[in-house]
Amino acid sequence: MTVAVTWPINEVAIKKLEAKHEVKLNKKEDNLTPDELKEFVKGADAILCLLTNKIDASVLDAAGPQLKVVASMSVGFDHIDLKACAERSVIVTNTPSVLDNAVAEHAIALMFGLSKALPAADRFVRAGKYEGWDPKLFVGPELTGKTLGIVGVGHIGSKVAHIAKKGLAMNILYTDIKRNEDLEDDYDAKYRELDDLLAESDVVSIHVPLLPTTKHLINLMRLKHMKETAFLINTSRGPVVDEAALVHALKEKIIAGAGIDVFEHEPKITPELLRLDNVIMTPHTASATKESRDAMANDAAENVLRVLAGKSPLHEVKAK
Ligand code: DGY
Repeated sequence: MTVAVTWPINEVAIKKLEAKHEVKLNKKEDNLTPDELKEFVKGADAILCLLTNKIDASVLDAAGPQLKVVASMSVGFDHIDLKACAERSVIVTNTPSVLDNAVAEHAIALMFGLSKALPAADRFVRAGKYEGWDPKLFVGPELTGKTLGIVGVGHIGSKVAHIAKKGLAMNILYTDIKRNEDLEDDYDAKYRELDDLLAESDVVSIHVPLLPTTKHLINLMRLKHMKETAFLINTSRGPVVDEAALVHALKEKIIAGAGIDVFEHEPKITPELLRLDNVIMTPHTASATKESRDAMANDAAENVLRVLAGKSPLHEVKAK
């Protein structure tokens, strides 16, 4: 069977696919345009894609009725039209779990980046401005013992709770669609409604998927619930936060700062964000560890192999 792989992912994963199937590989480290993607997937039994490939009905139809699986090398699945896949009996898979450490470490890194003003302090030293120890230089809040509010406690949110509790003795609040008793037992985490969590937390970290119900979950009204000393961390999906509202909140010091790895109109960045000092931005690199990226590629390939062999994939995503 034919597997269309839209990006030159790690060789081990490609070899694994090649051992069983014909692999059509896009060797350019460049995203295929929508038209190129449609041409590229023609006749494929499986598509192994990235989160930057929009897989909609037109792509599925271009592939043809023999298509059996769309395997994304990502935990997020908002780039895939699940309903269109279900209507065509195409299985959708993703790669959760293997990026928990990477993304949780990144969320914590952004918290430290803000609390210790790391980018500004680095720029200060490089600019030759350091003239000696100064008791008032870059003084910020400690994270230890503060309250962390986690929005969404799946694998990644739970890992953030683990690091924050075990490493920094932070008090953990969480919100989710259902109670998480393991989290409550393991980290003495307390459930809160979203608005209460925002009001009580010193740091808020977002870990929900992008769904119609989570788009602009954090809007201006919700930002106004936060403490003016609080930091907002987003390593989930950009549109979960209303970026215009975030810019306003940062400019008006409604909150103290934000650490964001994802953007509402990614890869476009709202220009005003670039001019603000109280935001740290990274280019959607939260999962960028060698360990995580290798495992994501491996799991995506494994999902393809399983489905093409008539078995259940490691992780299937179903339309609700
Ligand atoms: C994912 O896998 O969805 C992440 O956003 C990649 O960093």
